[in-house]
Amino acid sequence: MTMMKKLHLGVAALAISATGAVAQEVEVLHWWTSGGEAAALNVLREDLAGGGIGWTDMPVAGGGGSDAMTVLRARVTAGDPPTAVQMLGFAIQDWAAEGALADLNALAEEQNWNEVVPEALQAFSTYDGNWVAAPVNVHSTNWVWANTALMEELGIEQPGSWEEFVAAMQTAQDAGYTALAHGGQAWQDATIFDSIAMGAGGPEFYQAAFVDLDPEALGGAEMVEAFNRMATLRGFVDDNFSGRDWNLATAMVINGEALFQIMGDWAKGEFVNAGMTAGEEFQCFRVPGSEGTVTFNSDQFAMFNVEGDAADSQVAMASAVMSPEFQIAFNVVKGSAPARTDIDPSSFDACGQAAMADLAAAGDAGTLFGSMAHGHANPPSIQNAMYDVITAHFNGEFDAETAAEEMVTAVELAQ
Ligand code: GAL
Repeated sequence: MTMMKKLHLGVAALAISATGAVAQEVEVLHWWTSGGEAAALNVLREDLAGGGIGWTDMPVAGGGGSDAMTVLRARVTAGDPPTAVQMLGFAIQDWAAEGALADLNALAEEQNWNEVVPEALQAFSTYDGNWVAAPVNVHSTNWVWANTALMEELGIEQPGSWEEFVAAMQTAQDAGYTALAHGGQAWQDATIFDSIAMGAGGPEFYQAAFVDLDPEALGGAEMVEAFNRMATLRGFVDDNFSGRDWNLATAMVINGEALFQIMGDWAKGEFVNAGMTAGEEFQCFRVPGSEGTVTFNSDQFAMFNVEGDAADSQVAMASAVMSPEFQIAFNVVKGSAPARTDIDPSSFDACGQAAMADLAAAGDAGTLFGSMAHGHANPPSIQNAMYDVITAHFNGEFDAETAAEEMVTAVELAQ
C-alpha cells in the first residue's frame, strides 16, 4: 500500500516535470489477456491512474503476440498508431527502422537508463543510439513448471537430466495423468523448442543456429537431436492439445491434471494468480540440459510517433514503467524479472529470485541468449519461417532429419 502510494506520487510528479503539464491518456496495444497477465497489466493501469493518466485498452488475445502485431500493422497503415505497444526484440528494431517510433532520449538521459538497463535489453530498446522503447521486464523461456503434490504422489524428484525428465513424464503417463501440458500453437511449439534445442546442442549451437543462421548448425546433428527430443515430448501431451491456449495448459498443472509444462515464466503469473506459492505448491526448474543458460525475452513498450498531449503521455508512461518501485510491483505479479540491474530481489518469490540470479550469472558467463521463439534471436521473417518447420515436425509432417533440412531451406528462403 505504502509502495503504491509512493509510486503514484512519483508518476504524477514526473509527468509534470517531464512535460510541463499533467498528461492525460494512453492507448495501449498488448496481448496480456490471461488471468495472470491481466493482473499484471492492472498494476500498470492503476499506477498510471494514480498519476492522472487515463487508459484506453487495446487487447489483442494470442500468446506470443503474433496477432497483436498483425493488428498493429493495420493501425499504423491506416495512419492511426496506438500511443504505446507491447513489443518484443527484433520487431522493435523493424519498426524503428521504418521511422515509426518516437524518441525517448531526454527521459532516458534524465533517468540514467544507460546505466540501469542491462545491455542485452538495450540492444532492443535503442535504435541508432536512440531510445525508442521502455523495457518493462525480462522473461526467460527455458523453465519447467511442476505441480508439487502430483510429484509427491508419483514419487518424482526434480529431474537433473533429459533422461530423468523423460522417465518422470513416463511415470505420470503410466499413472493416467497428462505428463506434459501443452497447447499446440506455433508459438508454443517454438517456445518448447527454444530450450530443447539449447539442451540438445548447447550454447554454441544455439548461437550458430538461431542467431548466426549458420546452415551447418541449422541442418546438423544437434538440430536433428533437438527434433528427436521434440518427438519424444509429442508422445507425452494429451489428445486435446491442438490449439489450446498456453494458460489453459498451465491450468492443467495448477489443477493437478498434468505434471509439467515447459513455458516462459509468464506461466508463474497464473500460479500466483491461483494463490499458489513458488517452491511450495508449485516448482520451477530449468529445462534439463539447459541449466546454466537462459533464453530470454523482454516485453517493452514501444512508443509510436504521435503528437501533442499524446506524446506527453508517452513520456509519463515510460517514466512510470521504468521506476524501480513499479518494476517490483509489476514483475512479482507477471512472473518476470525486472528490466533494471539495481533491484533488490527480496520482494520476489523463490522462482523470481532464481530467475534474477540465473539472468545475472548467464550474462556474466556469456550464456544469455535472446529467445528465438519470442523474437529476440532473429527478425520476425526468419522467426516465422522457423515456426513453420517446428510446428510441421511436431504435428508429424517431417521426421527429425527432414525437419533439420527444412530448417536450412526455410531460413535461406526467408533471408
Ligand atoms: C510473451 C510475452 C509475455 C507473455 C507471453 C504469453 O511473448 O513476452 O509477456 O505475454 O508472450 O502471452
